[in-house]
Amino acid sequence: MANTTLSIAVMSGKGGVGKTNLSLNLACGLYQAGYTALLMDCDLGLANLDVLLGIIPEGNLQHALMGEMPLSKVLYPVEPRGFDVLPAASGVPELVDLSPEMRHELLQKLEPVFSGYDYVFMDLGAGISDTVQGFAAMAAMRLVVITPEPTSLTDSYAFMKVLSTRHNMKDFMVVVNQAGSAREALAAFDKLKGACSHFLNIEPVFLGHVRTDAKLTEAVCRQQPLMRYAPGSPAAQDMEKIAARLQKHRLNMLDELARRPVLQGPGL
Ligand SMILES: Nc1ncnc2c1ncn2[C@@H]1O[C@H](COP(=O)(O)OP(=O)(O)O)[C@@H](O)[C@H]1O
Ligand SMILES: [Mg+2]
Repeated sequence: MANTTLSIAVMSGKGGVGKTNLSLNLACGLYQAGYTALLMDCDLGLANLDVLLGIIPEGNLQHALMGEMPLSKVLYPVEPRGFDVLPAASGVPELVDLSPEMRHELLQKLEPVFSGYDYVFMDLGAGISDTVQGFAAMAAMRLVVITPEPTSLTDSYAFMKVLSTRHNMKDFMVVVNQAGSAREALAAFDKLKGACSHFLNIEPVFLGHVRTDAKLTEAVCRQQPLMRYAPGSPAAQDMEKIAARLQKHRLNMLDELARRPVLQGPGL
């Protein structure tokens, strides 16, 4: 059957910009809109999806990879029908250290499971490690999270420069998080876009912005996705809009998705 799963690598130049919360809430929002979503914790250094959800998973990707647990058992159901988390293999060697055979085996194991979802979000660690580059190359969509801070802009520019010059990745979606207003978000995006088109000859696409919202911090403390904790809050409304845009993008990409697997090797 033709692939219809949209895999999204969620990345940033700088840490703490909101990747994990955005991935979690987009998955949650899409689930609430009737789609299925898998959230894969790919931050091998600072895995924290489990903390944000207040869950204690029994197994992780490493167990599945080593054949100690089937992948289906490692998946943690956040919601009963179609919103699952694949916990990270923290404290284990970087996935990039895997031999080509192991990598191939990993992709073979992931593909049939991943293809059962409408969306797969890969929540990556900050920066430009080999693991990040590998996952970015395998996903169908690359989503860069920035904030309006100048340091976030310079870091994300440097990050996209490496991905575009070294790996020929040209297509990036951008979300501006922790924005005071739509106007501030667009101004930040325009700066990044200007530098990207001038120096790198790439045109990142604006996917939306998320306002700074104290409710998000509260939701983190309560270990609940904001979409569930405070669905009407400003940040939740913003994320809902982004989730709606992802639905349109997925429909527009169906032809492209049909011609590829969920994760395209041998990037990792
Ligand atoms: N829109 C927002 N409004 C308020 N605080 C935010 C927002 N986005 C992120 N934060 C804060 O930033 C922290 C780090 O977010 P997180 O998603 O863990 O970032 P990352 O995964 O990029 O390291 C959160 O715990 C929260 O306190
Ligand atoms: Mg994170």
